[in-house]
Amino acid sequence: MKILNFGSMNIDKVYRVGRLVGPGETISSRSFRCFPGGKGLNQSIAVARAKGSIFHAGTIGEDGLFLKDLMKESGVDVRFVRRMDTVSGHAVIQVDEKGENGILLFPGSNYKNDKEYVDTVLSHFEENDILMLQNEINDPAYLIKRGREKGMRILLNPSPVDERIGGKELSCVTWLIVNRGEGEMLAGAKEPEEILSVFRQRYPKLKTVLTLGKEGALYSSQDALIRQLCFPARTVDTTAAGDTFTGFFIAAVAEGAPVEKALELAACASSITVSRNGAAVSIPDRAEVEKMLENSRGRETQA
Ligand code: RIB
Repeated sequence: MKILNFGSMNIDKVYRVGRLVGPGETISSRSFRCFPGGKGLNQSIAVARAKGSIFHAGTIGEDGLFLKDLMKESGVDVRFVRRMDTVSGHAVIQVDEKGENGILLFPGSNYKNDKEYVDTVLSHFEENDILMLQNEINDPAYLIKRGREKGMRILLNPSPVDERIGGKELSCVTWLIVNRGEGEMLAGAKEPEEILSVFRQRYPKLKTVLTLGKEGALYSSQDALIRQLCFPARTVDTTAAGDTFTGFFIAAVAEGAPVEKALELAACASSITVSRNGAAVSIPDRAEVEKMLENSRGRETQA
């Protein structure tokens, strides 16, 4: 069983600010740094650092070669990543004093994936393989359709949510990972339990993970409702916390771990990510996460 992530790769331009800029305002930033990012790239790196085996596909421009290099160094199989004579996707990210962010995306090469390329990549995968998708590339609906036709199991993190992902797409998905805002938009409901109940009614076979920041996460499927608590962390920058969660969760599920274990690993890994600056560079490896889990169990025993 193989995992393919067909996803975005971005150059993140990160500005530290006192507070996020509002409409019609101009403010000065306190610092500027450039990082590798993109929800696709971050999630592939998270799978690899969680000891999962992962292939990444997607398009970069000439300025994005370092993105491919970082994935390769992190253990991602990048044989399907292609390069075009265009500019890579980038993100303008403001991070405030509390570590919260505001992100503006320019899709660039992430929107240059044509059907022929998608079909060629998918021809290397088969029934039961996992197809991971986010919503930062062009035509995610085509990937969902083709992946489903092949019998692949689809993990969708439909972020950033827009009109390109709707009921038709969600009915083909095996795992849906959303944060509260995304869940509200897709389900048209407010409270976490209501959101999950809408998903259960509309898509009975769907396994949903609703991430709730400091309130942890909820997992819901036909036969289970599980609450995962958040691990305490000093928040420096929340960028890529959701991506880390998604990558660790699916890596653990793919290796056959019980869903409780997958949720615990994912929550612990993302608590490490928020304590560091940047996106991909802030994602921990499996050993670090296991060590933190062991230490936190030690604390529980002493209490
Ligand atoms: O999820 C975080 C990512 O969102 C950043 O790395 C940025 O590139 C945007 O895609």
